[in-house]
Amino acid sequence: MAVMRARRTTLAVPGSNLRMLEKARGLATDALFLDLEDSVSPLVKEQARANVIAALCEGGFGDRVVSVRINAMDTQWSADDLTQVIEQAGDKVDCILVPKMQTAAQLQQVDERIAQLEAARGLAIGSIGIEAQIEDALGLVNVEHIASASERLESLVFGPADFMASINMKSLVVGQQPAGYTEGDAYHYPLMRMLVAGRAFGKQVIDGPYLGIKDLEGLRVAAQRSAALGFDGKWVLHPDQIDIVNEIFSPEQSDFDHAELILDAYEFHTSSTGGARGAVMLGDEMIDEASRKMALVISSKGRAAGMVRTTSFDPEH
Ligand code: GLV
Ligand code: MG
Repeated sequence: MAVMRARRTTLAVPGSNLRMLEKARGLATDALFLDLEDSVSPLVKEQARANVIAALCEGGFGDRVVSVRINAMDTQWSADDLTQVIEQAGDKVDCILVPKMQTAAQLQQVDERIAQLEAARGLAIGSIGIEAQIEDALGLVNVEHIASASERLESLVFGPADFMASINMKSLVVGQQPAGYTEGDAYHYPLMRMLVAGRAFGKQVIDGPYLGIKDLEGLRVAAQRSAALGFDGKWVLHPDQIDIVNEIFSPEQSDFDHAELILDAYEFHTSSTGGARGAVMLGDEMIDEASRKMALVISSKGRAAGMVRTTSFDPEH
């Protein structure tokens, strides 16, 4: 499983697009998923599945988190997607991404089927994780149950396009505020509810795509919105979106340095050498156990993103 690996950027790669399957190997994302669902026409589902299995077997995705998005559970393709992908390339897949997850029972069903397929292929039970897309009203209503239904679940992923359709939102522009809604953020409720459910059960929480590929400013606004709340990352659909999303979901260097300093200072001052104190001053700021926890969040994100601190702790100052 890849629970603590960074997922600032997750690249969506249509399984029917051979050029993108090839190109994805060289793009600087933390994660990617090879898609068999909505970016693939119903007419080429089987071909896309074969392409994805071939791409997995060929490898070359480095240390990225590699997922395959199967078709939704109520379609004629999902059972074969799961079976064939795991039977033929199960050792190359970190996670199965399940779209339109609506209930805990659905998640448990996928979990059990993966366990059977892992056993048949001689893989350790539990080696393949699950990512669950929450993208309709029923999924959101059940998100707490979904988040706690399986040890295999690594992340909850918001699906804004399907979600907007599911609740009849009066807009066609995915990720942007619907015209006429001037009082706040129309996405706050689903995002916050998913975030709280994910955090309650130790799962990563990922924001979905921003479909305006050319609108990089709009992407920035949407990414900042979920990053500020505490999301771990966001999907990207195009190479131009990658740097922006990586940047927004990484801590600022000064925040990372500061967080590392808080951790060192707190460890020192709470130790017997440092005086075994609980609340201490770091410069002008009072820090305590809660500050340590907040610092740990920033520092873990920075470390997972490969950041290096530029300052060091000196107990004399
Ligand atoms: C993604 O799957 C979405 O529906 O936004
Ligand atoms: Mg969707």
